[in-house]
Amino acid sequence: MVDIEQINPRNEAALRAWWEVGHAATAYRPGKPWPLWEQSRVALPADNPERGITLLGAIDGREMVGAGLLTRTLRENLHAAMAFAFVRPDRTREGTGRRLADELEVVAAGDGRTTLQSEAYLPPGGAGVPEAFARAMGYDVASRESIKELATGDYLARRDALAAAVRADGYRVVTFDTVCPEEHLDSFGRLLGMLMSEVPLGELDLTTSEWTPERIRAAEQRQVATGRHVHTALAIAADGAVAGVSDVRVDDTDHEHAQVGITIVDPAHRGRRLGLALKLATHDLVLAAYPTLERVDTSNAEVNTHMNAVNEALGYRTIETLLELQKKL
Ligand SMILES: CC(C)(COP(=O)(O)OP(=O)(O)OC[C@H]1O[C@@H](n2cnc3c(N)ncnc32)[C@H](O)[C@@H]1OP(=O)(O)O)[C@@H](O)C(=O)NCCC(=O)NCCS
Repeated sequence: MVDIEQINPRNEAALRAWWEVGHAATAYRPGKPWPLWEQSRVALPADNPERGITLLGAIDGREMVGAGLLTRTLRENLHAAMAFAFVRPDRTREGTGRRLADELEVVAAGDGRTTLQSEAYLPPGGAGVPEAFARAMGYDVASRESIKELATGDYLARRDALAAAVRADGYRVVTFDTVCPEEHLDSFGRLLGMLMSEVPLGELDLTTSEWTPERIRAAEQRQVATGRHVHTALAIAADGAVAGVSDVRVDDTDHEHAQVGITIVDPAHRGRRLGLALKLATHDLVLAAYPTLERVDTSNAEVNTHMNAVNEALGYRTIETLLELQKKL
């Protein structure tokens, strides 16, 4: 008899059992599909006024065989939540995934959330169990993304030729680790506010957010407190405005993998190869700071032709297809 229970992320033994299930359920994926224990142990219990989380465990006697995760933003998109179900590979097809998905819906609805979103990871271009499961749970595909990975050797082989071709005339590139210089903060916030309307979201029902200096500073401090380094490059236009931003994130617990966070160039400044210039800056930065770095991951909508072209030029290769899923309750 399997029971579905809420897990307190501050109960470290229970959190570890939950983490183990997710780790086992995602082990079929390439790359680094699941956070290291040290990262989850710190990040999941941490207070975060930006997002609420609920963890569910599917418990059979004394063993956890399934894990559920519901995350919801608390500042905007109050209608939406993200739901994930993981079942230990030796215990699938017993109805546990369905029970987790149902319970996640109950929790989401209880919090007034009416749009559920999720993610299914598949071999490039392929189909698979996560998609079959999602469709059986009533989710539709809202957007298709590719998960890409860059081997640092591939980057180094291309870097000099690319740098020689990039002339961001009239712009200055400013870099920082996590904490934005005060003089750029307002303009940086204005650009961040554009993100949700400028990134291709397909059918995903999400709205924009407002990034005040206070909100940015609080987010930076949460990153610092959890040992996350957001290595950021800003393109500064002649009039001082932040025209573009890109970042690469590295955790203190893992100097071998990095992830691209956000990249956006203000529509008024596009077509000048600022996207490429910013990515070169951030990748150079992390390679210099972490000599052990092996890989950088990113993901983009398949329809995002410009970003995909930049990433391919840098040497990124597609390793998975990501389906962004959505269900309206
Ligand atoms: C996807 C996953 C959660 C399914 O867990 P599960 O406990 O096996 O799911 P259930 O037994 O409740 O199956 C529910 C329905 O999903 C579909 N489904 C599940 N596995 C399937 C498979 N191997 N082939 C085809 N359909 C499948 C079926 O419609 C099934 O209903 P049915 O058994 O009545 O036919 C599990 O395989 C897993 O953890 N995968 C890795 C993580 C992941 O991709 N999670 C989903 C995205 S968040």
